[in-house]
Amino acid sequence: METSKNILLFLLILNSFTSNIFSKDVNSQNSYANRSLPNLETKNYKISVIGSGYVGLVAGAGLAYFGNSVVCADIDNSKVELLNQGEIPIYEPKLKELISEQIKLDRLKFTSQVEDAIRSSDIIFIAVGTPMDDTGRTDLSYIEAVAKAIGKNLNGYKIICTKSTVPVNTGQLIKDLISLESEDKFEFDVVSNPEFLKEGDAVNDFLNPDRVVLGVETEKAKEILNDIYRPLIERDIPFIYTSLNTAETIKYVANSFLATKISFINEVANFCEKVNADVLVVAKGIGLDKRIGQYFLNPGPGFGGSCFPKDTHSFLHKANQNGLNLQIVEAALKVNAQQRKHVFEKISNLLEGELEGKTIAILGLAFKAETDDIRESPAIYLIKEFLASKANIKAYDPMASNNMKHLYPDITYASSSADALSGADIAVILTEWKEFKELDLSKAASTMKNKVLFDARNILKVNELKDLGFKFANIGLAQVK
Ligand code: UGA
Repeated sequence: METSKNILLFLLILNSFTSNIFSKDVNSQNSYANRSLPNLETKNYKISVIGSGYVGLVAGAGLAYFGNSVVCADIDNSKVELLNQGEIPIYEPKLKELISEQIKLDRLKFTSQVEDAIRSSDIIFIAVGTPMDDTGRTDLSYIEAVAKAIGKNLNGYKIICTKSTVPVNTGQLIKDLISLESEDKFEFDVVSNPEFLKEGDAVNDFLNPDRVVLGVETEKAKEILNDIYRPLIERDIPFIYTSLNTAETIKYVANSFLATKISFINEVANFCEKVNADVLVVAKGIGLDKRIGQYFLNPGPGFGGSCFPKDTHSFLHKANQNGLNLQIVEAALKVNAQQRKHVFEKISNLLEGELEGKTIAILGLAFKAETDDIRESPAIYLIKEFLASKANIKAYDPMASNNMKHLYPDITYASSSADALSGADIAVILTEWKEFKELDLSKAASTMKNKVLFDARNILKVNELKDLGFKFANIGLAQVK
C-alpha cells in the first residue's frame, strides 16, 4: 500500500514536472519562477561549459536545470562579471529567468578561470564560436585553444562534448590535441552533441528538442550522457547515437536543408509575383503535405543570422576539400544573395527609382524577431544600399538598435516605430517583431510624409493597407498596389 502511494506521488510529481518544465507554451511568463526540481535520479555531474555565447549560456543553464552542477567559463572577464551580477549580455527570452533561478539553486556559476573549470569538472561542453574566414572555411582556432587547455589540465577521466557547430573531423582533431597535450596520462572520451536551438526561442528548444544527437564512441561516455539527459530520455525525446563524423555532418545538413527550404520559397515568391499567385497560400498548400512540412516556408528578405550563412559556406568548403561540388547548397546561397537585391529593387520601384534625399523608416534591424542579434541581418545590406543611394535612414528595432549603432553610428535611430514613421517617405518592415504586426496603420498614414510601405515579412494586412490608400508591396504579392 505504502509503495503504491509512493509510486502515485512520484507519478504526480513527475507529471507536474514534465508539464511545467517542458511546456511547449513559450508564452507562459512564470514557467521558470518559484519551482523546485523533483529528484529524477540525475547524478548531479560536475559540468563545465566553455564559451558563454548563445549556445553556451542556454546549454549551461539547461544542464543545470536538469539537476547538474554547472560552471560556465568564458575568457571575457567583463561578460563573466555581468553574469555574476545576474545580468545577461544578450537578449534571449526566458534566459535571464532560467539563469537567475539556477544561480539561486546553487547549480550554476560563472567564471573566467577556464583552467579551474576544466580541472574541477567531469564533463566539459565546448561551446565556443566557430566563425567563418574569408574563404568560407570554419576558423577552428577557439576550438583548438580549448582542446589544448583541456589536454594541459586533464587530471582524470573526462568527457569532452562538442556543442559548437564544427566541420566533420573536428572531433578527431580535438582528440588528437588532447592526447598530445595530456601525453595520454588519463583516459578521456570526445563526444559530438550538436545543438539545434534557434535564437529567440532557445530555452524552449533546449528543453524541448525534436531530437538529441550524440556522436559517442564508448559505452561509458554514452551512459554518462544518458544520465545527464535523463529528463529528456524520460520524455521519449528521440536520441540518435552515432559516430563523431555522422553527428557533425547531421548539424551541417540540417542547417543547409533549412536554408535551402527558405531559398526555395523565396524563389517561389518571386514566381508568384510574376503570375499573380499568392505565395502564402502556396506555402500552406504544399506545407500541409507531411512529406514537405509547413515550417520554414515563410518568404522574406533572405536568411541571415550567425548560422545559416556560415554553415552553408562551411559545408560547401568541406565538400570542395573532398572533391565535391554541392550544387543545391550553392544555389541556396546564390538565391539568398539575390533575394536581398530583389528586396532593394522592390523598394526602389516603390520610390520610382528616386532614393536620393528620401527618408526611409526601417522597422527591424535584427536578423529575425525576438533577438538583438544583427549578424548577417538583411538590414545591414539594405542600409548600405540606401546610404549609397543617398537616402536618409530612420531606423528602429525594439532590441537590436544598440548593436546596429556599432556598425552604422551615423544613421538616425528612432525611439519607437511611430517616431521612425513620422515624416518618412517610405516604411520598410524587415523583421517580424510582434509590435510591427500590430502597427497602428491609420496613425502611420497620417504621420508619414508619403503613404508608401514595403513589408518584407508579409505581416501586415493587405486589405487594411489598401483601404488606407497605401502604395505598398510585400514578398510574393502579384504587383504593387
Ligand atoms: C538556426 C537553426 O534554425 C537552428 O536549428 C540552429 O541550431 C541554429 O541555426 C544554429 O546553427 O545555431 P537561427 O539562426 O537562430 O537558428 O534562426 P532561424 O529561426 O533558423 O532563422 C534563420 C534565418 O532564416 C533568419 O534570417 C530568418 O528570418 C530566416 N527564415 C527562417 C526565413 O526567412 N523564413 C523562414 O521560414 C524561417
